[in-house]
Amino acid sequence: MVKLLRHIISAKDFSYLTLLEIFRNTQTIKEIYKDEKRRQALEYVLLKNGKPLRFRILTSAPSTRTISSFEDAIEALGGSSKLQLLEFSSIAKGETYWSAARILGPRTDCIIIRDDRNEHAAQEMQEAMSAYNLQTVIINAGSGDREHPTQMLVDLYTIWEHNQEKFESGDNTYAFVGDLRHSRTIHSLLISLAFFGGTIYLIGPAEEEIPGWVLRETAGSKIKIKKIADPLAVASKIDYWYFTRLQDNLRPEGVNQAQKTEYIKKYGASEELRKIMKEKATVLHPLPHGKEYQEGLDCIDPRFIHYQQADNGFYVRMALLKMIFAPIADFRNIIGENETIEVSGYLESLEIPIRLINAICIMSECARVRIDRNEWVKTAIETKERLIKPKVFCPECRPI
Ligand code: NCD
Repeated sequence: MVKLLRHIISAKDFSYLTLLEIFRNTQTIKEIYKDEKRRQALEYVLLKNGKPLRFRILTSAPSTRTISSFEDAIEALGGSSKLQLLEFSSIAKGETYWSAARILGPRTDCIIIRDDRNEHAAQEMQEAMSAYNLQTVIINAGSGDREHPTQMLVDLYTIWEHNQEKFESGDNTYAFVGDLRHSRTIHSLLISLAFFGGTIYLIGPAEEEIPGWVLRETAGSKIKIKKIADPLAVASKIDYWYFTRLQDNLRPEGVNQAQKTEYIKKYGASEELRKIMKEKATVLHPLPHGKEYQEGLDCIDPRFIHYQQADNGFYVRMALLKMIFAPIADFRNIIGENETIEVSGYLESLEIPIRLINAICIMSECARVRIDRNEWVKTAIETKERLIKPKVFCPECRPI
């Protein structure tokens, strides 16, 4: 069964079926959004009693994609959002997440939180919401060097979209390259890939491992993990590459120039490596990229689809929000309700959205539809016939 979604703290919050449901919803939303006529229908998803749901995005860290795609997704679905930089909140003065959650919770439907320094920020807020019996949903948008569950959705959706059958069959071979220890996106990805399977080469410095808790989470699952040092050694086998930047912002000890230079040399998408990658390989990167990627690589090598991957963030986050806040909303109904029909009864004919019609006349030969409690207008008989609305007698047809 598809589990109902609530707080998103970890990749562990998604079941296999829920992931597939998110991918399918993303596909539908992408199609609807790309059709300008139908796009507006999405604006009804994040409404409650006709009012926009209230989102607050708290962030301590620079972000181009995650924050903007959340903001844009909320707006496209009709919700309202406020962005607050943690350096301007009392958290910067030492306030706990627990306390901030208690303050913001009663006036907020959802808090999206990104904190590079505190890997348990989202967790702590979720615990406070339960303790105070608040309904506010918490979404982790990147926590320290631990997890980034919504980026995982973007990455997996991109692979699924690219070749659904092969992805679901578990026959893909992946290479995760670079800062394995600190790349939170890799940690979340490994946890969810465990449902689908595949062979995974972890390619990074010998002394830096994927955290033990992630490996324990995936132990005994469908994925086969192998750690190697040199990407050239496996390049001809890899279907999906996943490069990462040296996570200098998540390394409190800092990074020196020699480390940076070595990282680019060993874990960059060099020309030498690109020459031996499969012709049909696909190359991903959560972005931002550092010098391990040359600028405009996607323009000279179509296997690099990192910008398409980043563009997916907007659609995937819409699908996620829809599944949390409007799990049973059916897009066909929403779209149908927003289609317009022509009615007469005023000085001239008008186009009105179907959602404004609340009843139709029960008599099949009568073309009247009701748009307000007592206001009846006429449309074409064929149009009236396809409306699914309560049937009542209009004042003209009502038996005396
Ligand atoms: C990633 C992150 O913040 O963990 N970026 C992102 O959200 N798209 C990866 C990174 O910063 O390198």
